[in-house]
Amino acid sequence: MDLDEPQSGTRQTQTQTQARASARGMRALVQRSHHGPRDLTLTTGLGRPAPGPGAYLIRVGAAGVNFADVMQTRGTYGGGPQAPYTAGFEAAGEIVGTGPGVPDPLPIGTRVVGAGPGAFAQYMTMAADDVVPVPSGWSDAQSLGLVLNWATALAALKPLGEIRAGETVLVHAAAGGVGQAAVRLARHYGARVIATASPGKHGTVGALGADAVLDSRRDDLADEIVRVAGGGVDLVLESVGRATFEASLSVARPFTGRVVVFGAASGDAALTTHDLVFSHPVQVKGLHIGAMAAAAPVLYRSVLDELGALVAQGVYPPGTPCVRPLAEGPAVLEELAGGLTQGKLALDPWR
Ligand SMILES: NC(=O)c1ccc[n+]([C@@H]2O[C@H](COP(=O)([O-])OP(=O)(O)OC[C@H]3O[C@@H](n4cnc5c(N)ncnc54)[C@H](OP(=O)(O)O)[C@@H]3O)[C@@H](O)[C@H]2O)c1
Repeated sequence: MDLDEPQSGTRQTQTQTQARASARGMRALVQRSHHGPRDLTLTTGLGRPAPGPGAYLIRVGAAGVNFADVMQTRGTYGGGPQAPYTAGFEAAGEIVGTGPGVPDPLPIGTRVVGAGPGAFAQYMTMAADDVVPVPSGWSDAQSLGLVLNWATALAALKPLGEIRAGETVLVHAAAGGVGQAAVRLARHYGARVIATASPGKHGTVGALGADAVLDSRRDDLADEIVRVAGGGVDLVLESVGRATFEASLSVARPFTGRVVVFGAASGDAALTTHDLVFSHPVQVKGLHIGAMAAAAPVLYRSVLDELGALVAQGVYPPGTPCVRPLAEGPAVLEELAGGLTQGKLALDPWR
């Protein structure tokens, strides 16, 4: 069943524009090689995807842009799609169709946020198990990040990071999509936060409540962290990889310190058994939020439930992403790849 019926006022105009657009075929950003974002191409006249078993068809209201999109364009994302493919994997929008075999399907018209293939498009499909209703009163764009940035930050801090009030937490890339969520959450759970970011982003991170913000590129980063922390760090959220990994291991408290690794924006870093036994006897934990959803669904559901409670308490406020037209997607990804962005980024497939 489809939902392209006209409604009242602005919404009617918007819906009519969308209906005309869909009659001409769908617009999407298609990645044609693994040479990076420059080979991401705005393509028109595509057919809408069909929701397979257990999936919804979503009319995308806003698509989230993540560092993983950059990695996919370079072919460095583990298990990522092979070119050519419709890019993007996070979006919020309206359910406009339901595939076979969805138990207790959400009604057509329900607005949801979630992940699925081909999000940089006007329509995409999402596995029914992977969607979460958009929080009441929030726009599609405001809900982006719930199942990616915020879920990753919370999973890293709580079930994996075992954060406790009074502990010192180090958050790298703290002005980024995941980083901003992590700083807010770590402060909420009563931790002292030491953050790293490029100097031009320090004001943003300080405004989120970080106790100290350090230049992520300084040569003596580890020494400076230990000096500011007054000793070791209890928990490190490590997402930068090559440029910071050694510092992260060396500032974590021996034996009790946890280093949760969930990204490598500057490239991969290596860790040997020798490192863990002789140089850095710390607890290193890996995190991929999609893998957690698939392999540890009860744990993942507890993360989503806690996020729901944090939304209700106002600890997790509506997002304020920078929303750009779909055609600017390649530029947005280049900026993200170059470390030039702050906060959550999004694309509007109807602009
Ligand atoms: N495992 C998971 O499930 C999962 C889920 C979501 C995200 N992630 C990972 O979490 C990290 C943050 O993701 P995000 O989407 O929120 O991106 P982001 O933090 O908004 O952007 C990446 C940031 O990394 C920092 N950075 C440091 N060295 C860099 C380099 N050599 N090149 C580019 N950036 C560099 C930059 O911040 P500064 O300039 O301030 O240093 C940059 O803005 C990424 O590594 C991503 O892959 C993992």
